[in-house]
Amino acid sequence: MTRIGWLKVVIFTLCLAPLASLIWKAAVANLGANPIEAITHSTGDWTLRFLLVTLAITPLRKLTGQPWLIRFRRMLGLFAFFYGCLHFLTYIWLDQAFAIRSMIDDVYKRPFITLGFTAFVLLVPLAVTSTRRMIQRLGGRRWQWLHRLIYVSAVAAIVHFTWAMKKDIHRPIEYGIMLGLLLGYRLIMWAASEATARRKRTGIAAETAAD
Ligand code: HEM
Repeated sequence: MTRIGWLKVVIFTLCLAPLASLIWKAAVANLGANPIEAITHSTGDWTLRFLLVTLAITPLRKLTGQPWLIRFRRMLGLFAFFYGCLHFLTYIWLDQAFAIRSMIDDVYKRPFITLGFTAFVLLVPLAVTSTRRMIQRLGGRRWQWLHRLIYVSAVAAIVHFTWAMKKDIHRPIEYGIMLGLLLGYRLIMWAASEATARRKRTGIAAETAAD
């Protein structure tokens, strides 16, 4: 196996550690007084962390000049979706026992759940179109546009988190700052490439006019 192949195995195993830790704590009855709450919080936290790590790959790759980092982005994004599924399942299964009426009442009482649901649903098309075949079918540009939904999902997730916290919002603010930096980096890069393209266009126009 290549070095990247080995590294993928190591990272894949590490990404399963939060789930393994939850299973272990559940097995030894060490999830605290409210196990469902503990599972909800842990899976919610890890969904958000994986979303941010996925978003950090491109800036990291560009700033460090390490192109191989891109080869881990899909796996990390799929882990965000995986922990999102566990978080959602914890809610509808362990917390609400699939009782639709109770869920509707709860969403009415705690509207922040709607934002979590939005963040989660936005990840579904990204997971579905994450294969090489789907990239080819959609075409690079369309695929890239679709995958920008990850930003919308991350913003919705931060609002969901802040709203859920009610009083002590220092953790959501920390995550929000990280997301702001990642989005800011992208905006700066986009503005710089637009400026270069504009310079090129005016250069070509000036040359044609001079001919
Ligand atoms: C991308 C999707 C989502 C992300 C990133 C996310 C993230 C989070 C985070 C970070 C927390 C707080 C954890 C903590 O206290 O440490 C949380 C709590 C919670 N989330 Fe989500 N969430 C998502 C989707 C959802 C969905 C789909 C639902 C249910 C339909 C949901 C229901 C909840 C509930 C009930 C809580 C607990 C709030 C409390 O204890 O008061 N979340 N979520």
